[in-house]
Amino acid sequence: MVIQHRHKFDELTGKSPQMKLVFQRIQEIAPNDVTVLITGESGTGKELVAQSIHNRSNRAAGPFIPVNTGAISRDLVGSELFGHQQGAFTGATETKLGKFEQARGGTLFLDEISSMDEATQISLLRVLETKKFQRIGGRRFVNADVRIIAASNENLLNEFQRNIRQDLFHRLSVFTINIPPLRERNSDIEILAEELLDNACEEFNKTINGFDRQASFALNRYNWPGNVREMKNVIQRAVLICPGKKIRLEHLPDRIRNASHSQQEIILPVGVTLKQAEQIIIRNTIHSAGGNRKKAAEILGISRRALYNKLKKHNSKKSE
Ligand SMILES: Nc1ncnc2c1ncn2[C@@H]1O[C@H](COP(=O)(O)OP(=O)(O)OP(=O)(O)O)[C@@H](O)[C@H]1O
Ligand SMILES: [Mg+2]
Repeated sequence: MVIQHRHKFDELTGKSPQMKLVFQRIQEIAPNDVTVLITGESGTGKELVAQSIHNRSNRAAGPFIPVNTGAISRDLVGSELFGHQQGAFTGATETKLGKFEQARGGTLFLDEISSMDEATQISLLRVLETKKFQRIGGRRFVNADVRIIAASNENLLNEFQRNIRQDLFHRLSVFTINIPPLRERNSDIEILAEELLDNACEEFNKTINGFDRQASFALNRYNWPGNVREMKNVIQRAVLICPGKKIRLEHLPDRIRNASHSQQEIILPVGVTLKQAEQIIIRNTIHSAGGNRKKAAEILGISRRALYNKLKKHNSKKSE
């Protein structure tokens, strides 16, 4: 689709001001061989951002090696990263290259670094400072010809800071990129949904043209705690169960359907005046926004001040 390409930056889709800022940061940081820290909730696209930085760097011809340090048992992280010499410990029957050596000439993407144990954090800091490391059980120093991009799920820097050694934190956080959660960038929801729909159709060999009004309303209302990854799963499932040409509300999971229940329809009886219709619409919108007038004004497409003025007018009419 033509529109999508305008809102793509490598594999990343987005047109919100927040994502444009992320794209700009990637462009600024990529060509400089510096360490980068990417923060953002789960599923916000940290790995895609890391890959994009790598592809735009002068290490692009080298490997991009992701390591999820949170998924490796703590006592194995060191050997996974730095490798080991034969006989370094029981079970080390042969010399094994670690990720630092596998990533030579390229980029090492360290995911979930706050889950690393203290000793590994210290080793990592040493590598960052000296650009050298030793295999476990080895004597020789090996050059660390890698660029490190680290990521953390903890969205807030200070939360992350609490779970990691201060010296490592300062070393890592010189260049940071924060990816805001999807619920804070509503203007990305629609283009992401369309793109994920296209991808899923291709994957499952189906032809679905889009979302009906209610489904797209629900996607917009839902707060996406699992961010883009959650949306991808939701849309894949919808594509699999949708028999027609449009995804409808019933093809979405309950939690998303429920998010849209509070405001599906406003009923206007025939015979009401335009003024009364306006009052009914405003009242129902405020109600469905849980009493939040700012949100109600947004849904209605008017300023908060305009909404207050209308409410004042209606109230003074009532008391006349
Ligand atoms: N802006 C985006 N445009 C297109 N696809 C995206 C975007 N952001 C995320 N995705 C997709 O969402 C999924 C999750 O992205 P990714 O693995 O990069 O997230 P993450 O932040 O690393 O998550 P986690 O913290 O759980 O590891 C992937 O399938 C990715 O392709
Ligand atoms: Mg990840």
